[in-house]
Amino acid sequence: MKAVAELTIGNPKLPKWSSIHSHISGLGLDDNGKAKPIASGLVGQVEAREACGVIVELIKEGKLGGKGILFAGPSGTGKTALAVAIAKELGEDTPFVSINASEIISAENKTEIMTQAFRRAIGIRMKEVRKIISGVVSELKYIKKSSPFLPQPVLGGARLALETKSDKREFTVGPEVASQLQSFGIRKGDLIMIDAETGEVRRLGRVKERSSFAFDIDTERQVEMPDGKVQTSREIVRTFTLHDIDLSIAAQRAAFTIFGFLSQERGIDDEIRRQTDEMVKKTTQENKAQLVPGILFIDDAHMLDIEAYSYLTKAMESEYAPIIILATNRGITTIRGTDEKAPHGMPRDLLDRLLIILTKPYSQDEIMNIIKIRSDELDIPLTEGALNFLTKIGLERSLRYALQLLDPAKIFSMRRNSIKVEESDVENASKLFSDIKESTTFLEKYKELMIK
Ligand SMILES: Nc1ncnc2c1ncn2[C@@H]1O[C@H](COP(=O)(O)OP(=O)(O)OP(=O)(O)O)[C@@H](O)[C@H]1O
Ligand SMILES: [Mg+2]
Repeated sequence: MKAVAELTIGNPKLPKWSSIHSHISGLGLDDNGKAKPIASGLVGQVEAREACGVIVELIKEGKLGGKGILFAGPSGTGKTALAVAIAKELGEDTPFVSINASEIISAENKTEIMTQAFRRAIGIRMKEVRKIISGVVSELKYIKKSSPFLPQPVLGGARLALETKSDKREFTVGPEVASQLQSFGIRKGDLIMIDAETGEVRRLGRVKERSSFAFDIDTERQVEMPDGKVQTSREIVRTFTLHDIDLSIAAQRAAFTIFGFLSQERGIDDEIRRQTDEMVKKTTQENKAQLVPGILFIDDAHMLDIEAYSYLTKAMESEYAPIIILATNRGITTIRGTDEKAPHGMPRDLLDRLLIILTKPYSQDEIMNIIKIRSDELDIPLTEGALNFLTKIGLERSLRYALQLLDPAKIFSMRRNSIKVEESDVENASKLFSDIKESTTFLEKYKELMIK
């Protein structure tokens, strides 16, 4: 258990999504799981969004570990966007790992990268008791000390008194804590909390009795004078991933060997993973921790090869498995590493384990609304003419291409000293940048010329 206690706060972070999905904040469903036509940055794709809502519910109930989902639909129909929306709905406490199949295929050690992705996608939630100091500031005096390097005195610490209804304690804190108090602008009457182990300071609000001064702004969060002891312990919940624990065990082990200088990532081996699994099993059985299966999202999954697919199928059945979400825009295609053709280029035994969600092409109205949302997000105002023209491009060429023209079109409008993008700006941008159809035809034509 020691390994875990020594980890720094390991809340699995949401992956950094490329900015093309920055307008998406969730699935945009109502309380009954019905998709609102336009909400949380999403437009249309109603059935798929509602299906995603069911998945989110199942995940929250812990009922979907080891299952697989496949998003299948043409390019630009929002498969990646829906994965982003699911991640946003689940929040930071549920691990969400996103990887592109090409990263797996190009890796030196495919099994290792997949194992790691799997283990990053499984969380374990633990309750931990931490010592804290909390109360209302009744005195605060900074201590200055002279510095051998600087002409003026520097912050050397602070003397601090904290009060509750029934307790009062005085402390002398070091410069790290003092500088946090200073930078948060902590003053008498503020309710604060200090983590006794890390020294982290948090301002929780301003106590009511002391806020009655005329100059106090009333937007501040007002809190009651707390009860209880100033120095206490509090239970906090933290989530780590299996990979976090692997890393911490590896780091501990490395510290005891002459190979301590080797990178931590390399230090993880099967033995360490076995140790982690055992520990997790024990703590969950003793009800000290709870398993949180997260999501492993593999985009452009048709690019995986037969070796990766067998790993995936097998791993899905292992004791600790996250929910696998795959996305593909391919119909029938060859399974990489074989001569066999199959739906989505995936082996049958994997396909049989997947729930499939289809994403359909958008209507003209939906395309227009998506373009509107993106132009708002990018702060690129469009005239009605420009919006109509972009919608036409989205419909006839591709949505992705229409969205990509927004930034270049803005450059043209700026050259005209206009804050609004007009039809002509879009036209200029589309003349300079071609879509994939155009570039392919161009090269095909060129090939013919070369042969002649
Ligand atoms: N329903 C939607 N509402 C709002 N924005 C959307 C919606 N669907 C797609 N988008 C946006 O349109 C662009 C293209 O969508 P996305 O990348 O998700 O398509 P995809 O299905 O993953 O395509 P590909 O198969 O090429 O990977 C993105 O910027 C995405 O955020
Ligand atoms: Mg995609």
